[in-house]
Amino acid sequence: MSTDQAAPERGVWRRLFQAIRKTGAYQSLGQAGGPARLSRVFSGSFCRALAADVSRSVPWKAVFNRPLPQTPKEQSEIAISSFWLHIHPATITRRSLKFSTTYGLGGLCAGLFMMLVGTGVLLMFYYVPATDHAYKDMVDLQHVVSLGRLLRNMHRWSAHGLVVFVSLHMFRVFMQKAFKAPRQLNWVVGVILLVFTMMLSFTGYLLPWDQLALWAVTVGTNMAGAIPIVGEKFRFVLLGGPTVDQATLIRFYVLHVVVLPLVMFIFMVYHFWRVRKDGFSGGA
Ligand code: HEM
Repeated sequence: MSTDQAAPERGVWRRLFQAIRKTGAYQSLGQAGGPARLSRVFSGSFCRALAADVSRSVPWKAVFNRPLPQTPKEQSEIAISSFWLHIHPATITRRSLKFSTTYGLGGLCAGLFMMLVGTGVLLMFYYVPATDHAYKDMVDLQHVVSLGRLLRNMHRWSAHGLVVFVSLHMFRVFMQKAFKAPRQLNWVVGVILLVFTMMLSFTGYLLPWDQLALWAVTVGTNMAGAIPIVGEKFRFVLLGGPTVDQATLIRFYVLHVVVLPLVMFIFMVYHFWRVRKDGFSGGA
C-alpha cells in the first residue's frame, strides 16, 4: 500500500483513539452501563468526526464548499471560483434564452452527435471492418443480435438527423444574421463542422459493405478524382489503391470511428466556447 493510501487510514484510527480517550468511556467499560456508553461514543462524536474527515476528502465537496449565496455578488463569486459552475455564465442576455432565438437547433445537433458516439461505440462491439465480415455483421445485427436493429437504426437516424439539423441550424443563423461581427469566426468554425458532418456520413456509408455502399463510394471517389491536377492522387490516397477494396474499408473505418469524431469534437468545444465569448446566441 502506498503512503498516500495509508495516511487517511492512520487519521481515522487516531480520531478513534482520541474520541475514546476524550470521553473517558473506556474507563467505564467495567461498570454498569459502560458498554452502552462506549457505543454512544461510537455513534456520536467519533462517527461525526469520521464523516467530516471523509467529506473533507471527497472531491465534489469543492463544488459546494460555501454556504448558499445571499446576494447577486456572492452568486457571481461562486460561479467564478468553482470550475463546474464557471462553465455556466454568471449573466446572460434575455434574448439568447428565448426559444425563438435558437429554436434549440445547435443543442439538438450536439445531442445527436452524442447519440451517434454512444450508439457507434456499441456497434463497434459487433462490427469487424473486414471485407469478408462487414456485410455479415450488419445482417447479424439486423436479425440476430438482441436490440441490434434498434441500435443500428438509432445510429442511422441520428446521422440523418444531424445532417438535417445542422442545415436547419445554419439556416437559422443565416436568417438572423448571426454570422455578422463578432461571430464571423464562429460561422467559419460552423462551416468546418458542416463539412465534418458530411464526411462522417460519407465514410459511414461504406461500412455496411453492400452494393449501395460500394457504388456510392466508387461514384463519390471518382468525383474526387476529377479534381484537376491532384484529383487522381487524392482518389488513390482515399481508396488506398486503384479500386474500392479492403484498404478502402479500413481507411474509411478509422476515419469514421476515430479521426473525424475526435477532430469534430474539438471543433465543437471551440464552437460552444466562441458562442459564449461572442456574447451568446442572437446578439446583444
Ligand atoms: C455539429 C454541428 C454543429 C453544432 C453541434 C453546433 C452547435 C451550436 C450551438 C449549441 C450553438 C448555440 C445555440 C444555438 O445558436 O443554437 C451554436 C451557435 C452558432 N452556430 Fe453552430 N453548431 C453546428 C454547426 C454550425 C454550422 C454548420 C454553422 C454555420 C455554418 C454554425 C454557426 C453558428 C453560429 C454563427 C452560432 C452563433 C449564433 C448566434 O450567436 O446566434 N454552426 N452552434
